[in-house]
Amino acid sequence: GAADLGPYRYYMQKEIFEQPRAVADTLQGIDSIMPELFGDTAWRVFNAVDSVLLLACGGSFHAALTAKYWIESIARLPVQVEIASEFRYRDAVLSENTLVVAVSQSGETADVLGAVEVAKQMGMAKTLAICNVATSALVRECALHFITRAGIEIGVASTKAFTTQLVALFLLTLSLAQVRGKLTDEEEKEHLRALRHLPDAMSKVLALEPSIIAWSEVLTRKENILFVGRGMHYPVALEGALKMKEISYIHAEAYAAGELKHGPLALVSAEMPVVAVAPNDRLLEKLRSNMHEVNARGGKLFVFADVDCGLSPAPGIEVIRLVEHYGPLSPILHTLPMQLLAYHAALARGTDIDKPRNLAKSVTVE
Ligand code: G6P
Repeated sequence: GAADLGPYRYYMQKEIFEQPRAVADTLQGIDSIMPELFGDTAWRVFNAVDSVLLLACGGSFHAALTAKYWIESIARLPVQVEIASEFRYRDAVLSENTLVVAVSQSGETADVLGAVEVAKQMGMAKTLAICNVATSALVRECALHFITRAGIEIGVASTKAFTTQLVALFLLTLSLAQVRGKLTDEEEKEHLRALRHLPDAMSKVLALEPSIIAWSEVLTRKENILFVGRGMHYPVALEGALKMKEISYIHAEAYAAGELKHGPLALVSAEMPVVAVAPNDRLLEKLRSNMHEVNARGGKLFVFADVDCGLSPAPGIEVIRLVEHYGPLSPILHTLPMQLLAYHAALARGTDIDKPRNLAKSVTVE
């Protein structure tokens, strides 16, 4: 009931601000990286796999997509990410030594359960669930599991479940890397330090809310918004667009920024703003030229950058700098402004934020 909303207006808002706690709880008791975080037999399983298949739907699919970038670059394993509802009806060709990772907040999504069943029928017995509900069907169905500690999530649009999934997937990446001899003790220490700093780093990003509200006041009056990102921030752009359409009903689409010139640039005008996720990584230079293309066409840019990125506000280019430079954990931090932007755009439109029309928290039918 309203009593447990405390100072918040909607559960989504409460859950956004619970994220530092949810991440700290998910990391609770983890003092070193080891496959056993995923189950007693995980070392043997991780040691035997030659590839990873991630299965998920909705927001969880975007978390899985982020993990592809992490696992490929850090653990050096080939990764496929599949929308569960598509995978179950495709004749995919996969090795039996594939680690099948199902990512689901509820663990009850019919398409995810169906996809895992199909994978098993294909001979893939090495299954792992990343789930927020320990008693769910998915956790029962999979050989290994990791339970995120987001706590019950009520808002239909996933927030704290999403960021804790990312934490779990990063721990999976490091564990796979370790088993494969791709993680030095020094690197392990450095990643653990960054993980422990996450709750604090997240609180500092959430404190940017007033500037994000100012942007949402402009965006809420638009009918279309493009979200762009590159590399591991492309899934963050996808998640930003999904949140925006789910709760504000503004049409939003996400593109890998390099694809702008292959189509969506035709849509850009003063009426079609572009939100860019642009931390200071090795793709920033490329993104910068994509942004010039938007600017030259009268498109208004809203850029989320890093503390030490060389981007400055200019006519038609607004910039909000996140507080630090976050390395591989950057997608987790950059998700927070996406959530706040969608929340405040929806709030300004007066929608039913926790129960958007036509959507359900957990889709247990096909
Ligand atoms: C529904 C929810 C989404 C969620 C998706 C997958 O569509 O509205 O917020 O991302 O299901 O749910 P899961 O529980 O499998 O993560």
